[in-house]
Amino acid sequence: MKYDTVLVLDFGGQYCHLIGRRIREFGVYSEVVPHDIKTEEIKRLNEKFNIKGVVLSGGPASVFGANAPKPDGKILDLGLPVLGLCYGHQLIAHMAGGKVGTAKKREYGATYVFIDKPIGVLKDLNKREKVWMSHGDTVFSVPKEYEVLAHTENSPVAAFRHKEKPIYGLQWHPEVVHTEKGMQMLSNFLFEVCQCKANWRMEDVIERMIEEVKAEVGEGKAIIALSGGIDSSVATVIAARAIGDRLTAVFVDHGFMRENEPEFVKNVFQGFKVNLVMVNARERFLKKLKGVVDPEEKRKIIGEEFIRVFEEEAAKAGAEYLIQGTIYPDRIESGFRKFSDKIKTHHNVAGLPTRIKFKKIVEPLRDLYKDEVRKVAKALGLPDEIVFRQPFPGPGLAVRVMGELTAEKIEIARKADKIVREEIEKSGLKRKLWQYFAILTDTKATGVKGDARAYGYVVAIRAVESREAMTATFARIPYTVLEKISTRITNEIPEVVRVVYDVTHKPPATIEWE
Ligand code: XMP
Repeated sequence: MKYDTVLVLDFGGQYCHLIGRRIREFGVYSEVVPHDIKTEEIKRLNEKFNIKGVVLSGGPASVFGANAPKPDGKILDLGLPVLGLCYGHQLIAHMAGGKVGTAKKREYGATYVFIDKPIGVLKDLNKREKVWMSHGDTVFSVPKEYEVLAHTENSPVAAFRHKEKPIYGLQWHPEVVHTEKGMQMLSNFLFEVCQCKANWRMEDVIERMIEEVKAEVGEGKAIIALSGGIDSSVATVIAARAIGDRLTAVFVDHGFMRENEPEFVKNVFQGFKVNLVMVNARERFLKKLKGVVDPEEKRKIIGEEFIRVFEEEAAKAGAEYLIQGTIYPDRIESGFRKFSDKIKTHHNVAGLPTRIKFKKIVEPLRDLYKDEVRKVAKALGLPDEIVFRQPFPGPGLAVRVMGELTAEKIEIARKADKIVREEIEKSGLKRKLWQYFAILTDTKATGVKGDARAYGYVVAIRAVESREAMTATFARIPYTVLEKISTRITNEIPEVVRVVYDVTHKPPATIEWE
């Protein structure tokens, strides 16, 4: 079956992929394609899809710029519905012979738009709507075949349409949540203007990803670093479905995993008939880290050793291709990984650098957002423990044990982490929290246990709420839950005499302690 499809032409805007994703949320298939895609190519794509419309995305350029990205000049004559957003809006006006110029006053952020004609894309909207704008250029007038549908205080032509053809322009971004009726506008475009049928399901994306891995790897062999996190888990299952036992999934146990993690991963993936190699490299990592106390030094050593172990396995497996679970936010410049990178060296399995020359790196999840990956994971039959997992840093407990790493200290952190997880999960708070874990500080304190003086470790508890880890707030965990955690930790781990709760937001603190 061919899906009804809307193409998004990428003019470099930061919300470009979000447009595609919003369209897919309506059950209409969407692909982001280069802005200069030829109209012949669009016609050819009709063999595979049922192309129903085209969106011209926003972008940072001005239509007057020397290198302003332009679409194929015949794009407005294809007979297909076209929706220009922001830069796309200015572009259509400019191409059609309207007047575009520098805005007298830049509009940035939430703006009220006056809907003069609630028709087409603007059907069923109120006279005044809150929208999200961010533009330097403005459309001042449109040629006579077009009509103005909306204006703002500073933009006389904030929305327009062609009087006879299904061509629309909106100065604002309907795809971002700050545009209150944004979904209504997109829905109008898809179902009123393009007459799309919602015949695409998230599950279908799985078939396409499998086909892609098959096509890329051919008869070759591939390898993937499986961490047990959701992204690498999904990529592993997809790749295994595509190329069977020509895939080797490597799980490197560096010794800083949560309690029972290697066993858990092994069990889950046994059910998926994955060719899984478990590498116990615990001693090797600990040896390298002997005497090291500097957090960045620790991260660097763990990252390098990880790559070394992985390279050895890739050589053994004879793999020519590297599969990675990179997802869309990993790729955007402003993504949280980039942001955090400035603060600490992230070790990230999805972005594994390696000295081995692979024929190709294949990233089947590269266009998906996290919640889309979750849907795929569910559809693949991965268990909820994987689907709704809290993020876990690549270097694991090593960044949650302050100071020098010893087997004893890691074991204490592991036990404390298990107690925190169990109690938070019992309390029903789990889904509300971004992360919750224990830190073994390198401070010792005095206590009293069984009438006798005790001198032991201080464990800190961290629980945060966040949307994407760039910022976070400490969670207001009920005292009863904290009390349960504290009592269990001091009772069940004799080396610990004191438990404290971290009440710092990010910023200024980071989520992890090191
Ligand atoms: P910070 O501590 O920088 O963490 O506020 C932000 C998010 O990233 C996770 N984190 C990592 N993830 N490799 C990863 O894949 C790493 O080296 C790493 N360090 C921190 C952290 O758990 C939080 O979710």
